[in-house]
Amino acid sequence: MNIRTICCIGAGYVGGPTMSVIAQKNPSIKVIVVDVNKARIDAWNNENLSKLPIFEPGLAEVVKEARNRNLFFSTDVDSAIDEAEMIFISVNTPTKTYGAGKGMAADLQYVELCARQISKVSKSDKIVVEKSTLPVKTAEAIKDILANTNTAVNFEVLSNPEFLAEGTAIQDLIDPDRVLIGGDQTEAGLNAIEALVNIYTAWVPEDQIITTNLWSSELSKLTANAFLAQRVSSINALTELCESTGANIEDVAQAIGSDSRIGPKFLKASLGFGGSCFQKDILNLVYICKSLGLNQAADYWEQVVIMNNHQRNRFAHQIVKSLHGTVAAKKIGFLGWAFKKDTNDTRESAAIYIADILIEERAYVQVFDPKVTLLQIRSDLNGLNTRSETENDKFLVNHSDPYETLNGTHAIAVITEWDEFKSYDWQKIYERMQKPAFVFDGRNILDQKKLESIGSVSYTHLRAHETGRNL
Ligand code: UDX
Ligand code: ADP
Repeated sequence: MNIRTICCIGAGYVGGPTMSVIAQKNPSIKVIVVDVNKARIDAWNNENLSKLPIFEPGLAEVVKEARNRNLFFSTDVDSAIDEAEMIFISVNTPTKTYGAGKGMAADLQYVELCARQISKVSKSDKIVVEKSTLPVKTAEAIKDILANTNTAVNFEVLSNPEFLAEGTAIQDLIDPDRVLIGGDQTEAGLNAIEALVNIYTAWVPEDQIITTNLWSSELSKLTANAFLAQRVSSINALTELCESTGANIEDVAQAIGSDSRIGPKFLKASLGFGGSCFQKDILNLVYICKSLGLNQAADYWEQVVIMNNHQRNRFAHQIVKSLHGTVAAKKIGFLGWAFKKDTNDTRESAAIYIADILIEERAYVQVFDPKVTLLQIRSDLNGLNTRSETENDKFLVNHSDPYETLNGTHAIAVITEWDEFKSYDWQKIYERMQKPAFVFDGRNILDQKKLESIGSVSYTHLRAHETGRNL
């Protein structure tokens, strides 16, 4: 099938950047990204590129080049489906908050709605591509809906999971380790796979494009995330051991990561992984294993999430303990709220859970993040439903200036590893803090020697057990 127009349903963190790069690299293909969220589409169409709904290094430049040339953002979902030969489903698949599988299974209602809408609108053959991370066998449900609701046209369903990481999305899209495409191993399925391969070969070497069947593709995505998250929980599990023994976690990470069989990546100790994928995908994997009666496999993977919860709780309680057992009415400055640097995404950020624990202890949490708005921070905290919105507002403080935010704080917690935090004037920050001044570095990014030279800062980090030490 000759692809002249692509439609992508969902203009989020995956759909937006992915389609921007596909459009940039395939100028002869028209790419229409649609979303039901009008405010989001308006932001994608904003003349001012600093107002795009997603912050990603390099994204604005790609959008600038392709937008209104062959890349379009619209709320007219039906017209885009009708016009396209290939439709990507890139909608959210959050963890279910109700019914069977509540708290574990993926909520597929948005995916199913897309399938029904595609079926309703389509008047010609379509290739439907799953881009969102989906439980293995979801394609079967999509195929079932399409085949039984519109028999006039032929639908081929492909799985083409996205492996980009936020904060490096453009780089990951332009130079991916691999592109994975799964489809039916029938003649029509193989033709559909070829059509998608042709889109990627505009810039990705063919030997980096892996083609397989639908189920292997769906499962590979889920398990790739589980493996990555497992590494983070594994290294985080060792931070506690380091603190108890005097070993240094960074030295241990370097030593084990130098083994080429282990490798150096994803061994950065932290206050716990966040983001929209890891927890959701592992819980989903656990749910699938349990559904199949594979209880040992389910328990094994669930431990990765249990360890992650433990790490962020531990960080919060360490702050309380170090501040003489109480943070009531004390001001705790948060540097960062996003789940990692170079993104404005806060989904499942450790910041939310750590702030919640501290507010429960009656601390004032004063947050500065270079890219996250107060509106978002509020909505994240309120989303936990721990207390009323008014109560949260009382304990939450936010300024657009980091020095203002940290003014008068009893302690500072480094939550996100934004580069700019390293080059702050820490002398100035220290002078305006309450004494004794505490800094809890949840990302191990600050220069210990520099802080040591300032004054009586108690610098606690994940490298070794040094809680409460006056440097
Ligand atoms: C992840 C996968 O990396 C990506 O391939 C997939 O498509 C989506 O899920 P993302 O969640 O965007 O990407 O970011 P990632 O870089 O994986 O980080 C996830 C979390 O783990 C962040 O909170 C990060 O701070 C944390 N992390 C990562 C660590 O704590 N230590 C590490 O060494 C690496
Ligand atoms: P991701 O990180 O997976 O990209 P996001 O939540 O950032 O997830 O983006 C998903 C987008 O999909 C949201 O902007 C949401 O409004 C959109 N969406 C969900 N369901 C539909 C639908 N049926 N039609 C159009 N857009 C949808």
